[in-house]
Amino acid sequence: MNNPFSLESKTILITGASSGIGKQCAEDCYKLGAKVILLARNEQALKTISKECNGVYYSYDLNNLEGIKALIQQIVLENGPLDGFIHAAGIEKTLPLKNLKPDDYESVYRVNVLSAYEILKHITNKKFRNEHLKIVLIASITSVIGRAGTLAYSSSKGALVSGVKALAVELAPKNITINCVSPGTILTPMMKSFFETLTDEERQKRIQGFPLGLGIPSDISYTCIFLLSNAGRWITGQNFIIDGGYTAL
Ligand SMILES: NC(=O)c1ccc[n+]([C@@H]2O[C@H](COP(=O)([O-])OP(=O)(O)OC[C@H]3O[C@@H](n4cnc5c(N)ncnc54)[C@H](O)[C@@H]3O)[C@@H](O)[C@H]2O)c1
Repeated sequence: MNNPFSLESKTILITGASSGIGKQCAEDCYKLGAKVILLARNEQALKTISKECNGVYYSYDLNNLEGIKALIQQIVLENGPLDGFIHAAGIEKTLPLKNLKPDDYESVYRVNVLSAYEILKHITNKKFRNEHLKIVLIASITSVIGRAGTLAYSSSKGALVSGVKALAVELAPKNITINCVSPGTILTPMMKSFFETLTDEERQKRIQGFPLGLGIPSDISYTCIFLLSNAGRWITGQNFIIDGGYTAL
């Protein structure tokens, strides 16, 4: 039987691939047979990870929205058309409403949302993709729950969740699927540095919210693989909340 979860002969672009969830996605997509294209800023980390994954890397700052078209053209010219895309690049900013300035929203939205939409604009062009392109945007449970101090971040993730609904309908006639995966707390470098800002009491409270304990990056990469594989053929416009039971409480 053909393995419906295999990524054999698929070419997958992954942003945020130098660290945490994106790095795990690159490693696991490779193990499932994909050719992986890694994109992030940290060239040294990208070099090491791409070697391990037999992949290629592009060191690029996604704040530069204007350069994305040329970047995608170069990626496809050098690697062929894409079968999958994971947007795992993201930044976090915890500030209460009274301290937030327009620049704070803008910097978070630029990387978390606008860079993804700009990439989508180009990779959905038939010159740059194969017949059944599958897209996964990493959002967050803060797109569906309230947490003080997360307005800039959680509203950016909410924009991804509502955006995939519009795009699922718009892109279905092109045989393109698009979904969000919304992680709970996953122990990655981003989360470890956030945890350092919490008091012991706040940290314990956060951990206790997860009936299955905190997550690990492969809890998210395996969900992405499912959605990028042929098994995900009929799934689009959804937000998969992967949170060890946090939102079940
Ligand atoms: N870790 C968690 O608990 C958690 C929970 C919910 C959602 N998320 C989301 O998962 C995604 C990955 O998070 P992580 O914990 O692995 O974070 P991380 O900090 O370990 O990795 C973030 C990645 O994004 C890349 N990146 C950031 N800004 C960039 C820019 N301007 N240009 C190019 N690349 C850029 C970094 O290079 C890095 O590769 C993020 O979108 C985050 O919001 C994480």
